[in-house]
Amino acid sequence: MPISLPDRLETRRLTLREPREADASLIFEAYTQDHEVARYMVWRPHQTLRETEQFIAYCMEGWRSGRTRPYVITLHGDEHVPIGMLEARIASHTIDIGYVLQRACWGAGYMAEALIALSDAALAHQDCFRVQATCDTENSASARVLKKSGFVLEGRLERHLILPILAPEPRASLMFARCR
Ligand SMILES: CC(C)(COP(=O)(O)OP(=O)(O)OC[C@H]1O[C@@H](n2cnc3c(N)ncnc32)[C@H](O)[C@@H]1OP(=O)(O)O)[C@@H](O)C(=O)NCCC(=O)NCCS
Repeated sequence: MPISLPDRLETRRLTLREPREADASLIFEAYTQDHEVARYMVWRPHQTLRETEQFIAYCMEGWRSGRTRPYVITLHGDEHVPIGMLEARIASHTIDIGYVLQRACWGAGYMAEALIALSDAALAHQDCFRVQATCDTENSASARVLKKSGFVLEGRLERHLILPILAPEPRASLMFARCR
């Protein structure tokens, strides 16, 4: 049976919910055009709102298809205001995750809170045995978040991802996972 993830996740301070069209302009303002936020990402900062609209449309389509759950992260009581996203791509018995937060919300422990809730929910599913994430070898904040969230460093993937802000050639990543 394919792994199904909840439509919503609630943590102490956060609600993770389905993406909607109205998120595009808010996310564009909040972070997709921010060079610092995009530094360790596989995308370049967006220059136009249209790029973020296309990204959100892609997320909505992925959600509908069931192959991925790109949750929008919001604060309790402010569900219409995205502060970031946490995507869970579903592949057989594994969930592969990626995440981003707007800069104003860094350092408050939000991403660890979201990651723990998501990986707990995934590993509670009978067919999910592994939740994994990679980060660039220099993305110390991301590596720290994964460790704090119970992920174990498994190794280094050479020439894994092109991060266009940093270099035209693929760079090494660290692979982390939580398994059961
Ligand atoms: C990576 C990211 C999601 C972290 O989210 P966050 O909610 O700020 O993370 P937390 O507050 O839970 O924890 C950050 C931890 O990293 C540490 N940290 C932050 N910057 C650091 C740095 N340059 N070097 C080492 N540790 C660092 C913090 O001290 C904190 O650890 P602590 O709780 O032990 O003090 C956020 O910075 C982000 O969105 N970055 C841009 C996008 C990105 O890089 N995504 C990940 C791609 S793999």
